[in-house]
Amino acid sequence: MVITSVIQYGLVLGIYSSEKDEGAAQFTSAGDAFDRLVSGKLRELLSVCGPPLKKGKTRVFHGLHQDFPSVVVVGLGKKDAGVNDHENWNEDKENIRAAVAVGCRQIQDLEIPCVEVDPCGDAQAAAEGAVLGLHEYNELKQKKKPVITPQLHGSAEREAWQKGVTYAEGQNLARYLMEAPANYITPIKFAEHIEQKLRNFSTVKVHIRAESWIATQQMGAFLSVAKGSAEPPVFLEINYAGGANTNDSPLVFVGKGVTFDSGGISLKPSSGMDAMRADMGGAATVCSAIVTAAALNLPLNIIGLAPLCENMPSGKANKPGDVVRAKNGKTIQVDNTDAEGRLLLADALCYAHNFNPRAIVNAATLTGAMDVALGSAATGVFTNSPWLWSHLYEASIVTGDRVWRMPLFEHYTKQVTDCPLADLSNIGKYSRAGGACTAAAFLKEFVTAPHWAHLDIVGVMSNKDEVPYLRKGMAGRPTRTLVEFAARLSQDSRNTK
Ligand code: BES
Ligand code: ZN
Ligand code: ZN
Repeated sequence: MVITSVIQYGLVLGIYSSEKDEGAAQFTSAGDAFDRLVSGKLRELLSVCGPPLKKGKTRVFHGLHQDFPSVVVVGLGKKDAGVNDHENWNEDKENIRAAVAVGCRQIQDLEIPCVEVDPCGDAQAAAEGAVLGLHEYNELKQKKKPVITPQLHGSAEREAWQKGVTYAEGQNLARYLMEAPANYITPIKFAEHIEQKLRNFSTVKVHIRAESWIATQQMGAFLSVAKGSAEPPVFLEINYAGGANTNDSPLVFVGKGVTFDSGGISLKPSSGMDAMRADMGGAATVCSAIVTAAALNLPLNIIGLAPLCENMPSGKANKPGDVVRAKNGKTIQVDNTDAEGRLLLADALCYAHNFNPRAIVNAATLTGAMDVALGSAATGVFTNSPWLWSHLYEASIVTGDRVWRMPLFEHYTKQVTDCPLADLSNIGKYSRAGGACTAAAFLKEFVTAPHWAHLDIVGVMSNKDEVPYLRKGMAGRPTRTLVEFAARLSQDSRNTK
């Protein structure tokens, strides 16, 4: 074989499973076109080298065509599988994401610097699979994997491909911020990183508020957590004015931004504590969603709020039994200093009401109990609004980054309001029972807006091997669902007030 091109290109092609097991597999239109280009050789080779390719399985062919020295064919599963009503996601899209990710990684392992990707009939999903599947946090290693740039094969669906790249890059930004060590992503570094990403948008203003501003806002609950650390807190405020009218009620996103959660005086066990560098996952996903919304030029206004600090034990830290006062005047007994996220969010949620919000959506790595309940299958959503729920749910079917509704019963409220010294305790009185629900009930005490949703994202914070198109590590979920939700909201002109 003679390689004539200077730059080596790889090609990833999808192939559907046949309806019957023994039937011939079915090419995508890009696969068909390539097969014609090589005079039917691809079909021939595939048929002689074994049974049809199963979903996610690959075959590599070298030297078929001079422009593409290596071709990876990957199984897409059944064609036109549609929305799976048991799985609550669009199966075609999920299959494409997974297959393309596997194919692109194979090209990367072959150390080929460029890869063209079959759009597989849904270029957005294909781009997401490629860009999410290749992402890895490499920053601090001397030996890095080769960087490869996925490109669309052919010229159809260019816009959808670009949209997929933008969605995936948004999630990758959240993954980057979550994965990075806590001595690199401190509160101020987090804020500056986001500010830098938004610098070139004329539609965006970023305010990085210092400790003195937080104090004037009377955010006593947030400050009580922050004061335990030598690292100063930051309140990050983003204003994206993409709407037709700057006065249109905004969507307000709020994210928990604990850049490291040691537990404070209620210290966590040391095993696995390093994962607490991702305790700013709420802030990372909501801020990345706004960066993505700005890149997509979504026609709505969005406010992003992220209280950022560390939760550390020290002579200045909260002590169990301390009582602090939140922005709305409610007093909170800090019975466990490790339940710090709700303290930051209490103040940020009060502040969110200043914007006459169309909806408030907060995301937080709030409780280990959420992971116990749903694991990594879906983000838990606690909401007072069926309207908000339906938009989040519909968005998640498309993105495959699912949500599942959880209760906000009075039952749980009673367990946080029965408190010896203050209006509220920061833990439920039956300790671990329904931990995710008592945390949500606590947050509800700081919300008067009719359309509010709290997303507990602990279960989806990291990936082992559950999501096939994400490598092991911090997952940046559910950034794409937040973006898709915002996009849908921008299309919904219904007056919800
Ligand atoms: N940041 C943790 C939640 C968490 C747990 C995130 C595991 C990622 C992985 C949160 O601040 C916390 O510690 N919550 C406590 C609350 C408890 C003390 C009521 C928890 O879930 O144990
Ligand atoms: Zn904690
Ligand atoms: Zn925490």
